[in-house]
Amino acid sequence: MVSNLRPKQEPILEAQNLTMHFHTGGAFSRKTVKAVQGANVRLYPGRVTALVGESGSGKSTIIRMLARLYSPTGGKVLFKGKDVLEDKSRGAMLNYRSKVQMIFQDPFSSLNPVHKVRYHLERPLRIHGKARNRAALNDQIDVLLRRVSLTPTDEFANKYPHQLSGGQRQRVAIARALAVQPEVILADEPVSMLDVSIRMGVLNLMAVLRDEQNIAFLYVTHDIASARYFADDTLVMYAGYIVEGASSEELIQDPKHPYTQLLLSAVPDPARGLKTAEMEVVGEIPSLTSLGAGCPFANRCPKVMERCKQVMPAVTELSPTRWVRCYLYE
Ligand SMILES: Nc1ncnc2c1ncn2[C@@H]1O[C@H](COP(=O)(O)OP(=O)(O)O)[C@@H](O)[C@H]1O
Ligand SMILES: [Mg+2]
Repeated sequence: MVSNLRPKQEPILEAQNLTMHFHTGGAFSRKTVKAVQGANVRLYPGRVTALVGESGSGKSTIIRMLARLYSPTGGKVLFKGKDVLEDKSRGAMLNYRSKVQMIFQDPFSSLNPVHKVRYHLERPLRIHGKARNRAALNDQIDVLLRRVSLTPTDEFANKYPHQLSGGQRQRVAIARALAVQPEVILADEPVSMLDVSIRMGVLNLMAVLRDEQNIAFLYVTHDIASARYFADDTLVMYAGYIVEGASSEELIQDPKHPYTQLLLSAVPDPARGLKTAEMEVVGEIPSLTSLGAGCPFANRCPKVMERCKQVMPAVTELSPTRWVRCYLYE
């Protein structure tokens, strides 16, 4: 089986060959959006895996399939080795939600404006039976708000979302995710709508949760620089395909896929003094409704070969910790 990383540890959540084709348009103008194709993702306890790609590359679709908000067109989702997509009962969904939580991009729309912070934390605690009575609820709300550094906790529990900054709202969203004591957190661009000055604080909070609560994180971002800072492993996505996976350090120091090389050439790297090698880029991101069978990067790739246009390359494992989908490395 194709793999990203850490072969010795068992993944807690795994996507195998996940595919999502959306059918849009009317009866006479049907279109298929090939949003995600053959994606493999492995998440490990106490590790952050970043999923990096441009807008529209399919990142949110992957996270939504892993969260069971979308039913995939094909492929499997395994939690602790067990296929979770088979059981669609309410009980199974509820159980899954207590293990796998999601944090959304927009902290302004993810909290209900008519309810105080307390309500947002009480709800999951009640639904998942985490607190038996009022005193236990209050204790847990106190612990959760402390966990995300919203103190004094009494004060924050009684605020409405509009009384909070974007960073504080995202901390409430994180506290809400933590309420059910999840083992996996799927975070979809959790800091991209926050002021640059407070992004680091929220990323650091997630790093603490990874280290102290052994949570497995999937961190979706279009910012490869933050992946380097925060993620142990990084997956790179382009036009519906995950094209490369490696430890973040390896990936940044020695990118293999021409698209990863392109991404990094656009990022100033203070550690190395200079920008990474510039690449000559031509063409545009292909439309996901008209993708052929070849590599979607072929029309922009400076190293394109004839067969790249015919068939998407399979995964080539370069080492136990890294792989790439590119004929240059077969
Ligand atoms: N529910 C949907 N119906 C139809 N197309 C969708 C739907 N969700 C996403 N898409 C399309 O799938 C592609 C990938 O979207 P998305 O996963 O949101 O990308 P990203 O998160 O990387 O920006 C886009 O072309 C988007 O328009
Ligand atoms: Mg998205």
